[in-house]
Amino acid sequence: MCGIIGYVGKLSAKNEILAGLKMLEYRGYDSAGICCFEKGELKLIKKKGKVDTLIEVCKDKLKDVHCGIGHTRWATHGDPSDKNAHPFLSENNNVCIVHNGIIENFETLKGNLQKQGVRFRSETDSEVIAQLLQKSKCESELKKVQELSNMLVGSYAIAILFKGLENQIFAIRKNSPLIVGKSKDGYYLSSDVNALVDKTTEYHIMEEDEIVWIDNEDCYAFNKNLQAKEITYLPMNLSKQDISRGTFEHYMLKEIMQVPMAIKMTINECESIINPYNKLPKDLIRDVKHLTIIGCGTAFNAGMTAEHYARERDIIVECVYASEYRYRKFLSQENELCIFISQSGETADTIEALKIAKEHQIPTIVITNVSTSTINKLADYVIPTKAGPEIAVASTKAYNAQITALYNLMDYIYCVKNKINCRTCILKDKLYDVVNKLENYNFDKIDELSQLILENERVFFIGRGVDYATSQEASLKLKEISNIHSESLYAGELKHGTLALIDENTVVIVIATQKHLFDKTMNSIYEIKARGAKVVLVTQFDVQTDAIDMLISIPTTDQAIMAEISIYPMQMLAYKTAVLKGLDPDKPRNLAKSVTVE
Ligand code: G6P
Repeated sequence: MCGIIGYVGKLSAKNEILAGLKMLEYRGYDSAGICCFEKGELKLIKKKGKVDTLIEVCKDKLKDVHCGIGHTRWATHGDPSDKNAHPFLSENNNVCIVHNGIIENFETLKGNLQKQGVRFRSETDSEVIAQLLQKSKCESELKKVQELSNMLVGSYAIAILFKGLENQIFAIRKNSPLIVGKSKDGYYLSSDVNALVDKTTEYHIMEEDEIVWIDNEDCYAFNKNLQAKEITYLPMNLSKQDISRGTFEHYMLKEIMQVPMAIKMTINECESIINPYNKLPKDLIRDVKHLTIIGCGTAFNAGMTAEHYARERDIIVECVYASEYRYRKFLSQENELCIFISQSGETADTIEALKIAKEHQIPTIVITNVSTSTINKLADYVIPTKAGPEIAVASTKAYNAQITALYNLMDYIYCVKNKINCRTCILKDKLYDVVNKLENYNFDKIDELSQLILENERVFFIGRGVDYATSQEASLKLKEISNIHSESLYAGELKHGTLALIDENTVVIVIATQKHLFDKTMNSIYEIKARGAKVVLVTQFDVQTDAIDMLISIPTTDQAIMAEISIYPMQMLAYKTAVLKGLDPDKPRNLAKSVTVE
């Protein structure tokens, strides 16, 4: 949700910032902009559209600059346009800022400034930051930044340039991530580590309310009261290969092909000596009576998949969207444990939901793919997924890694509760078999299915039990990157309303991997076929019936973990349909990968 970059050092600030913005583009691509010190002046260039448009506009400009800030935007306040693009200059052009987050009290602040005669140039909440800094009467820039942080309500990562302080950048953060990178050629600021790979050898994750001040020589950190803090740097352990597309046409395709690796690495983690499950206190696990799984989007769907797995092991699970958990009435439940799932570990709703659980003294476990993320610092216990950096907006390999971790966690809870010795991953052999089958999976029917979808008007995904959870994820993938109207529902619920929408222009994709539910699902298939829809069946079973227009065969495994397999062709289906439609699957309309605002 918006990407921020800053650079000060020996290299060309323009090149460093534009390259960083390309890496951060998955966080938003409504507009992009850059501001650098050029001969003592703040030189600003910003443009609606993707970073490539900005790169084109900057071609012969900003030639000899060594300090600046940049931004790629996911619009919240104000439409995607040149005027609403970041960076923002103050009215007198003496202060320049970029912002990620939402300033919740911006209307009050803006109103006060307008009363003082300040004229605003945009409709954003962010511009108020530059204007407040301009109006500040504090004697030093550092004090102005401190005063600013006391005035703002909401979430923010902000980088600031002050005219007169050439080659210096100030930054603050609250509830939005910001990282300082250090290299022999200078200092960087970035919304995430990925943009610093190959650029820096060490990085520092800014803490809540921390203020940093960077110049050519050094980086200084302060707390809210402006007391100097020591900076902890971590070694950069990602390589360019981890974050590049390699020979793949899109990140999403690369990441789908990495699904088997993501499962394997996540199993290996729990087999290693740093087995994260062993860090969970046994008495806590033994006494748990109620598990609440919380997440957003794909992470929530992973939770739903695990709910069925847990139920089979007599563990009661409730899955709640983080955005709902935050605002629903809190009811205390005996011996509750909350599990938060987040690929990025930066999703605002999930972080806030975790804070609420903590306020009520509920123990918290987080399952996340980014070890340095905000949510990791807040949770009591962390179970890492090992999918590696996921760049495409639509999550794929992280989903499989999440359900792998959840299967392991549910097994662990079951074993502890039932006093069964469980030192390693119970599912190890079965999951390795899944990895092997996915590595050799043939997507040959998927092109034809994409074509069928494009020839029709609407798509439904249906399933029963755990297959419904897979339907949810399959439908989410398709709609988010191909902009095709798609819904998922419980197969048994069709006749209670949705059947009214089924006609000859409808494709219904039925996921049926559970033997005991198969005949019931077949009944739904006959009902759909009778209304003229095209029926596609995704299953490992051998089926002979005229009611099916297309069979997507999948390899078999223990039916408890079939969700690892059944989602695989559906991820590819979403990808291929988007590509066939001429869309960029890595940058779906209106979406961003890391949703750091509410
Ligand atoms: C966004 C992304 C989804 C992701 C969701 C939750 O909507 O586009 O792919 O599933 O956020 O993100 P998280 O990082 O918390 O898993």
